[in-house]
Amino acid sequence: MHIQAPFELVLFGGLGDLAQRKLLPAMYLLHRDGRLPEGLIYCTSRRALSQQEFLEIVRTALRQHVPQACLEEQSWETFTGRLRLAEMDLSDEQGYQHLSQLLGPDDRNRLYYLATGSDLYTHVCQGLHNCDLIKSNSKIVLEKPIGHDFQSAQAINASVAEYFHESQIYRIDHYLGKETVQNLMVLRFANSLFEHQWNQKYIDHIQITISEALGVEKRAGFYDHVGAMRDMFQNHLLQLLCITAMEPPSKLEPDAVRDEKVKVLRALKPITGDAITERVVRGQYDAGVSDGQPVPRYRDEPGVEPKSMTETFVAAKVEIDNWRWAGVPFYLRTGKRLAERACEIVVHFKEIPHSIFPLQHKNTMANKLVFRLQPDEGVRLMLCEKRVGPGMNVRPMNLSLNPANHKQTRVPEAYERLLFDALAGNATLFLRDDELLEAWRWVDPILSSWEESEQRPEPYTSGTWGPAAATLLLAKDGRLWDENS
Ligand code: BG6
Repeated sequence: MHIQAPFELVLFGGLGDLAQRKLLPAMYLLHRDGRLPEGLIYCTSRRALSQQEFLEIVRTALRQHVPQACLEEQSWETFTGRLRLAEMDLSDEQGYQHLSQLLGPDDRNRLYYLATGSDLYTHVCQGLHNCDLIKSNSKIVLEKPIGHDFQSAQAINASVAEYFHESQIYRIDHYLGKETVQNLMVLRFANSLFEHQWNQKYIDHIQITISEALGVEKRAGFYDHVGAMRDMFQNHLLQLLCITAMEPPSKLEPDAVRDEKVKVLRALKPITGDAITERVVRGQYDAGVSDGQPVPRYRDEPGVEPKSMTETFVAAKVEIDNWRWAGVPFYLRTGKRLAERACEIVVHFKEIPHSIFPLQHKNTMANKLVFRLQPDEGVRLMLCEKRVGPGMNVRPMNLSLNPANHKQTRVPEAYERLLFDALAGNATLFLRDDELLEAWRWVDPILSSWEESEQRPEPYTSGTWGPAAATLLLAKDGRLWDENS
């Protein structure tokens, strides 16, 4: 897989939060590692900046968001040669004319990246179309969340489809670009050992957690209208669920993989009516302590409505109605201001049917396979072994499936992988239109019921693992969350 040269990457929202934190650092790292052919990066911005001011903003962003060891003067100098500022207002037609004058010939490998709110997507597509900037080899990346419910997502899909063919549209979910997610596919589909066990016969349940220690930060204007269900659950968590639960695709090709993911989404047991309160927990953080510092409650964060009903935490018990997963619950949770930043998929195997050993703690015996996506990426198998010495004492042990030598290679950031793939035209790790809609179809009844409810999300103390109801969700089934696996 290679990127056709010369490429042109146009970042709409080119100096916004996402561009500064993720997209420009990722492009710099690809450049530094010699993975980019000849090509230019255009950052759109409404601000009238000199080239020097523009470069200074990018440089500051790189200093903050690129690992120190990768910041090299020479790479920066050559990287600046790729950077162009496109001063434009996305809602103004003239801006697109200005952009068309900046861009090179039409036959270039051109990628438009919409790092803006999804309410602007149609507008940008129209602007590009009116200036004849959409060619058969142009591609477009759409950031999440796309829409705020099924209907709005359907409308956005339909309007983008007026300008771009589905094969030109790359709906990004950066969790799919994380190294361990791809490793999960390799472990599942390149080893017969795991795949034979990957079903209701051997697996008791699966937990997927994305926890953040940070609060809403400076994004209240966005987040207070969105909440954890739309920001994290509808996309990142459900995508991790799909990769974990899907059937083996026939090939490692975009549609083969996406066909299998969409089947999982279609097989999700709907959660509606009274089942919503039984199976889904929503919470909102209260004041507490995070990283040793006192932090305010969500409702007191700058930019948040004082009576905000927005959830900053969601946990749910999800079931998949098919042969492989019948009776195996998937417990999913995500939240801000939790005890620590972590992301893990933990596969809990069933206990042995009968133990011949004296056990101190019953649950030390069940095997677990842990895929840790962050902060330290890796895979661990939790087994039992004999404690050295007299007697036959059993103790749990961790088998790391990432030997130390793997750690010497820098793990690429998710956006590096995904930007490279989009520029190279590989859509395997991007969502198709039907996947997006199925995910919304499943979360819609939950969101509507919350909107109708006057009950406030359950408060939880910042720096803890979320509301008590989330603990209860598993306790009812005689299980516990893996807090520190
Ligand atoms: C984004 C959400 O998609 O993912 C943010 O909008 C969240 O709210 C972020 O903080 C988390 O990503 P990561 O890769 O840092 O876990």
